[in-house]
Amino acid sequence: MADTQNLLLLPGDGIGPEVMAEVERFIAFFNKKSNKVKFDTDTDLAGGAAYDKHGVAITEEAMGKAHACSAILFGAVGGPKWDKVPYEHRPEAALLRIRKELDLFANLRPAICYPALAEASTLRREVVEGLDMLIIRELTGGVYFGEPKEIVTLENGEKRAVDTQVYTTHEIERITRVAFDLARTRGNKVHSAEKNNVMKTGVLWKEVVIDTHKKHGQGIELHHILADNCAMQLIRNPKQFDVIVTDNLFGDILSDAAAMMTGSLGMLPSASLGAPGNDGKRKAFYEPVHGSAPDIAGQGKANPIATIASFGMALRYSFGLVAEADMVDKAISNALAQGYRTGDIMQPNMRSVGTTEMGKAILGELERLVV
Ligand code: NAI
Ligand code: MG
Repeated sequence: MADTQNLLLLPGDGIGPEVMAEVERFIAFFNKKSNKVKFDTDTDLAGGAAYDKHGVAITEEAMGKAHACSAILFGAVGGPKWDKVPYEHRPEAALLRIRKELDLFANLRPAICYPALAEASTLRREVVEGLDMLIIRELTGGVYFGEPKEIVTLENGEKRAVDTQVYTTHEIERITRVAFDLARTRGNKVHSAEKNNVMKTGVLWKEVVIDTHKKHGQGIELHHILADNCAMQLIRNPKQFDVIVTDNLFGDILSDAAAMMTGSLGMLPSASLGAPGNDGKRKAFYEPVHGSAPDIAGQGKANPIATIASFGMALRYSFGLVAEADMVDKAISNALAQGYRTGDIMQPNMRSVGTTEMGKAILGELERLVV
């Protein structure tokens, strides 16, 4: 019997609905072809679209669905149309509310360099071609949230600014366990990046990672790396990495650096995961890294690959469908190798296509892989 998985689709604004429409083809494909899984989908409004209809960025009803579903697929929200709406109802409030209520503490950013796009990277082809790594960033703790966080005026009139980096055992342990769990669906290798040479949080981070590895890291090859060296190694030889786990601040920087190895914003998927529930399954939210791209919205030009690859991440990390996820990645790679290009990744002598044509080309490649 196939497992039934409830997917909540929140296409959002701008190009969000355009790229999500392509993902729906893939959902329908697996519903038809797979005997392992059946997707039950529900679609709701988020962001500006929800504000226009309901006066809020996301309704209570949609939040209820977000709590109940097995995974959320999100497009993008925002745009100039909503620049003047009250702050608490701005489109991004939908995203922030979901992140907060579902306690999505683990942010996943893969960096994949498809061979056909290796020339588009600023690094040499041999350095990036075939790159496939995953950065796991702690998202709800650390220096962005620690208290005190203030700017005070001193007696001599000078000002003094303070941010506080705080981590507890439990926060480090839970993100480390995500890294080990996910490494098992990939290359079984984890690098933990911190600065234990100069930071107390780094000392604790390393201790807890070592301890967690003893308890839950069977079969995982674990390395510790100083975060600054990690930045250097990412540029020098990114293919040495499989999974990198790190804190909020270092993860912010390292994931942006890794992102640039893969070319366009239109190529980058992401996921945010929470703690396992009673059924052992983690709350999960999948979205492209890009925004609603108002400059090209409604023109059928958007690159759907980031959103299709986000669905691929859901297959891999929420539903344990590793072979299927590999096939989606391979189908993207093959469509690119066939020369299909949306405007953002266009290269000389390639075949310029729109959103729908790209979605269909990738699905066509997937069909070839599955039969
Ligand atoms: P953006 O990511 O929407 O666009 C930046 C540039 O990249 C634009 O030139 C756009 O045309 C291009 N681009 C983005 N995605 C593309 C795709 N799939 N295919 C082809 N080209 C693509 O970022 P921007 O312009 O800073 O923000 C626009 C709106 O999106 C704002 O309202 C912003 O607040 C919102 N936003 C929403 C996010 C989300 O929902 N998670 C994330 C980032 C921005
Ligand atoms: Mg950033």
